[in-house]
Amino acid sequence: MRITDTSDLWWKTAVIYCLDVETFYDSDGDGIGDLGGLAERVDYLAELGVTCLWLMPFYPTPDRDDGYDVTDLYGVDPRLGTHGELVEVIRTANDRGMRVIADVVINHTSDQHPWFKAARRSRDNRYRDWYVWRSDTPPDTSDQVVFPDQEESIWEKDDRTGEWYLHHFYRYQPDLNVANQAVRDEIARTMGFWLELGLDGFRVDAVPFFIDDVETAANDPQRPEVAADPHQYLRDLRAFVNRRRGTAILLGEVNLPHRDQKKYFGGDAADELHMMFDFLTMQNLYLSLARGDVRPLAKALRQRPAIHQSCQWATFVRNHDELTLDKLTDAQRQEVFAAFGPEPEMQIYGRGLKRRLPGMVDGDPRRLRLVYALLFALPGTPTIFYGEELGMGEDLAQEGRMAVRTPMQWTSGRNGGFSTAPPRKLVSPVVQGGYGPAHVNAAQQRRDPDSHWSFMRALIAAYRSCPELGWGTFEVLPQPDNAVLAHRSAWEDAAVIAVHNLGSEATQVELTVADREVLLVDLLQAGEQRTDPKGRVTLELDGYGYRWLRVHPGSDARLP
Ligand code: NOJ
Repeated sequence: MRITDTSDLWWKTAVIYCLDVETFYDSDGDGIGDLGGLAERVDYLAELGVTCLWLMPFYPTPDRDDGYDVTDLYGVDPRLGTHGELVEVIRTANDRGMRVIADVVINHTSDQHPWFKAARRSRDNRYRDWYVWRSDTPPDTSDQVVFPDQEESIWEKDDRTGEWYLHHFYRYQPDLNVANQAVRDEIARTMGFWLELGLDGFRVDAVPFFIDDVETAANDPQRPEVAADPHQYLRDLRAFVNRRRGTAILLGEVNLPHRDQKKYFGGDAADELHMMFDFLTMQNLYLSLARGDVRPLAKALRQRPAIHQSCQWATFVRNHDELTLDKLTDAQRQEVFAAFGPEPEMQIYGRGLKRRLPGMVDGDPRRLRLVYALLFALPGTPTIFYGEELGMGEDLAQEGRMAVRTPMQWTSGRNGGFSTAPPRKLVSPVVQGGYGPAHVNAAQQRRDPDSHWSFMRALIAAYRSCPELGWGTFEVLPQPDNAVLAHRSAWEDAAVIAVHNLGSEATQVELTVADREVLLVDLLQAGEQRTDPKGRVTLELDGYGYRWLRVHPGSDARLP
C-alpha cells in the first residue's frame, strides 16, 4: 500500500457530510432551501474540511416521508431547483475538492409514482409486476413494520383490484419488485443517469429490505427466472456502477448485525457494497457513554468482521433518522434512555431518540469534543449530519424524526440566516432557546478559535493527516481503566495511538506502544512524549480528556 492509494480508494479516508437541500440554505426567499443556496455554501463546507457531500433525496416527491417517497427517479424537485443547478453544485463541489453522492431509493416509490398509479389500475397492467402483490389475506405482520406509530401491517389492501401490496415502510411507499428484471434495468438506468451528471456514488436506502424481497421471490417456484442468490443483484449493481464510473461508491444503509453485514460487502470477494454504516458500533458507543465504560464499544469494534481492503465502515453518532438503539438489549436501551433521553417526548418508536448529541450531554463542551474526537479516531470513515459541526440542537415539538431536520443555523439573525421568508413560510421552524441561532450559529463560530466549529475543523484536518485511521489495523491496547479506550491504528510503518477518557475524573494510562523507545507526537494539541526503552509510556488525561499521538516512524515519510 502506498499513500497514493488513498486517492483511488478515496472513500476510506473521506469525511462525509449529510445534508438535506431543503433545510440548508434558501437563496430565493421562499422559505425552502435550494440548490442555488447549497452552491453558495459549498465554500463553507470546503473550509470545514468536508471531502464528500451526501445529498438526501432531491427528487420530485409528495414529501410525506421527507423525500424518501419519490415520484420520478430521474427528476429534481422543482422546489429545490433544476438539473442545471444540481450540476452546478456538483461542479463547484468538485472544484473545491469535494465529491457528491446522493440517496437512491430502490426499495420503494411513492404511491403517487406513475408506475404505481398504473400498476394499481388492473391486475394485468404492464406495471403490475413492478410492485409486490398478494391475493390471499396477509398474516399478522405487525412485528415487521418499521414505523409502529403509523402502521400495523406491511401489506395494504388495494380496493380497486382486491389485492394487497407490500410496503415495508409507510403504506404510501409501495415496495418495488426488485426481482423483476425490468425494474432492475430501470433502476440501473437512473443511477447511470446521475453518474453521468457527475455524482460519485449513492447512499443506498434500506438495502436489506429489497434483498429480502428478492430472496422471497427466489424461493417462489412460480418464478424460475429469479436468480437463486439474492445478493447477485448487489453484485450486478456494483459492477454496473463501476463500469460507468470507476470511482463511484455504494454506501449502504444496512442496519444488521456485523456478521450479516460482511455478506453485504460481498464477503472476501468484496464485490457488493463498498461501504456500510456501522449501526452496531454507534449504538454501543452510546451505551459506553451512558456507563462511562468503554467495554461495550471495544467489544463491538473487536467483533467487527475483517473486511476487504477496498471496503469501509461509515462511522457516525447521528443521522437524519431516529437515533436507533434497536440492536441493544431492552435493559441496555433503557440505560441509554435514562442517561440521554429520559422523557417520553425524547424517545421514538420505542427504540430510539429524537435528540441531537449536545442536549444529551447537557451542552458540556468537554463531552461533546470527547465524543467527536473518539468518532474520528475509530477505524472507518466519519459521517456527520449537517449542524453537528456547530453543536446544533433539536426541536422536540416537531413530529417524529423532523425534530433533528430543522434549518441550518448560519447567523444569529432572522431565521438563523437560513431564509429571508417570513417564519411561517419556512419548510421547518428554526430551533428556539439555548440551541437556537442566537447562541449557535456558523458566522460566530467560524470567527472564534475556541468554538465547537473550530474544534471540528481542526479534528477533520487531523483525521485527514492520519490515513492510518481509515486504512490501518485496529487494536485495543490493554490497560486497566475501563473508562478509557486506548487503541492503535497501524498502517505500514506508521501508527496512531488514541486515548479517550469517557469518565469525568482525570486519570493516567500506562501503555506499551512499541518494543523500543519511540517518540509520540500529539496531533490535536502541541506536545510530544518519549516512551521508555521498552516502548512504555504513561499518559495523563483530564476528565473527558483525549489525545491522539503519532508514533514517529523513525523516517520522515509522515510529517511528525
Ligand atoms: C431509510 C431512511 O433513512 C428513512 O429516512 C426513510 O424514512 C426510510 N428509509 C424509508 O425510505
